[in-house]
Amino acid sequence: MSLPERVTIVEVGPRDGLQNEPETVPTEVKIGFIDRLSRTGLQVIEATSFVHPKWVPQLADGAEVLAGITRQPDVRYPVLVPNERGLERALEAGVTEVAVFAAASEAFSERNLNRSIAESLEMFAPVVRRALDEGLHVRGYVSMVCGCPFQGEVPVDDVARVTVSLFELGCREVSLGDTIGVGTVGQVQHLLEQLAPQILLDRLAVHMHDTYGQGLANTLAAFEAGVRTADTSAGGLGGCPFAAGATGNLATEDLVYALEGSGVATGVDLDDLLATTVWMSDQLGRPPSSRVARAVMARQREADRR
Ligand code: HMG
Ligand code: MG
Repeated sequence: MSLPERVTIVEVGPRDGLQNEPETVPTEVKIGFIDRLSRTGLQVIEATSFVHPKWVPQLADGAEVLAGITRQPDVRYPVLVPNERGLERALEAGVTEVAVFAAASEAFSERNLNRSIAESLEMFAPVVRRALDEGLHVRGYVSMVCGCPFQGEVPVDDVARVTVSLFELGCREVSLGDTIGVGTVGQVQHLLEQLAPQILLDRLAVHMHDTYGQGLANTLAAFEAGVRTADTSAGGLGGCPFAAGATGNLATEDLVYALEGSGVATGVDLDDLLATTVWMSDQLGRPPSSRVARAVMARQREADRR
């Protein structure tokens, strides 16, 4: 198997990254982050979410963020919405793309959405219908596809069932989330082999958190299997406030470095992206977790000393 010629990267730092920050990041910083990201060649930037502000106070300013950014014509800015109220708020903010988010684990579904998996799909049905009627692009997420901190193992059949349900609701793309970053290459290969007879793999994305350092290997394995889209966050920001111990996503620059070095086009300018990561890390007051960013920053410090 080999890597494809071109892939799409969905930058989720402003949403997945910032939803998990201990201190709420100021709105102007979020806007500066998104604007910088949107000048790096990234085509899709998940900008915020319209969930209950009490559940995720860090992103309560979603409407202000969307009003403040300078939209680039060739960049898409999807947002997360859990329900009709969220969609209403997103439409008022002028979005063109939304994502609903289910889980393959019952225990996590209850914690993240206050609902069973079946109840969450019922909640999403009118959201997806209305979004499609309004001409929006709709993505679905399935969380905990490689394991769950509350339930342990997650059967592949459960992942398949929820994924198929999201496509049946009308989602155009489904992103498979290893929310706690425990998956391995073998597990990802097995999961995609099981899904392949039921689902077109090029309509899937993978969303690998990097907790165990497997995010890059798992993402490349998914690309080799036929997936064409991956979610990452600049600087490796992120995590899920409802899944303790989960660290950030695979860092965007780690994936771009690996792909561009292997002749796979991403459209992303690595230097511009690294400058954005360094800027954001200054705003947050801590170094990025990304290996590539750390390596480049160390080299820069060395060059400055000479
Ligand atoms: P609930 O408490 O069950 O809500 O929360 P409800 O439907 O019973 O409504 C209660 C009140 O909340 C009502 O107000 C609603 O209007 C209001 P009242 O009538 O009492 O005055 N309300 C809202 N207000 C503003 N915006 C809304 C909204 N919805 C209801 N959207 C709910 C249910 C789904 C809302 C809640 O559980 C929630 O917001 N959950 C979000 C959790 C979340 O954001 N998790 C992180 C993102 S998922 C993730 O990170 C994983 C991912 O990255 C993939 C991966 O890594 O695997 C995507
Ligand atoms: Mg996530």
